[in-house]
Amino acid sequence: MSEPAAPLHDDTARVVARLSGVRKRYGENTVLDNVDFTVRRGECVALVGPSGTGKTTVLRLLAGLETVSGGTTEITSSTSVVFQEPRLIQALRVWKNVLLDDAHRTGARTRAEAALRDVGLEDKLTSWPVSLSGGQAQRVAIARALQRNPELMLLDEPFSALDAFTRRSMQSLVSSLWARYGFGLVIVTHDLEEALLLADRIVILSQGRIHHEMRVELPRERDVTSAEFNLLKRALLSSFSLSMS
Ligand SMILES: Nc1ncnc2c1ncn2[C@@H]1O[C@H](COP(=O)(O)OP(=O)(O)OP(=O)(O)O)[C@@H](O)[C@H]1O
Ligand SMILES: [Mg+2]
Repeated sequence: MSEPAAPLHDDTARVVARLSGVRKRYGENTVLDNVDFTVRRGECVALVGPSGTGKTTVLRLLAGLETVSGGTTEITSSTSVVFQEPRLIQALRVWKNVLLDDAHRTGARTRAEAALRDVGLEDKLTSWPVSLSGGQAQRVAIARALQRNPELMLLDEPFSALDAFTRRSMQSLVSSLWARYGFGLVIVTHDLEEALLLADRIVILSQGRIHHEMRVELPRERDVTSAEFNLLKRALLSSFSLSMS
């Protein structure tokens, strides 16, 4: 797939999600405290931070799967989520897995086919999920998210179960889909290199608060071996270490 030009970062693009002073409590446990978080159309934000620090909770709030305990949210109604595991229904062929509840909508099958083409799986339309590799199954999950034509795409550690080679090809797939369709993209990842490869902005969450934000001004395609990339990686590592202390 040829790589379209990535959208230039645009501070005036429409906001597709905004959390303002958000607090989230589960019982007595305050999981998020005073979180401000904005995503614009065409922007890619990576959310990183130690385990149990509230990253998935932020994503679930953005997806409308949770409600806040305090503060306010403004979020587009057009969101799609991809989780760490593809969550395919084994009893449905691939194209029906892409559509799920949207199957009855006009033109849905055509959209499923187009989405599967976008992720390079046009030959798996009528396959069963059991016959797919881990990477292919995750591509189906991405096709499912894409066919809804979202303004905001939310990915929660989508590649962490994949081997390094498959992960790199999935990163490049997501990057090219994001560049082509211009949705706002939030990716939760433990992989700081992945954050630097994909994001315009990296947000470090620690103990339920935003610890640090870093803009990534590197041109795309990014080169993990370049001096600039490694300089930023060192800065990010040091902020990340501070967030854990
Ligand atoms: N439904 C829930 N009920 C009670 N506590 C919850 C619930 N969901 C999350 N938590 C708690 O909220 C905190 C943050 O969890 P969250 O899943 O957001 O962390 P995370 O940063 O995504 O972690 P990881 O990197 O391990 O995925 C944890 O202490 C967790 O136990
Ligand atoms: Mg999580």
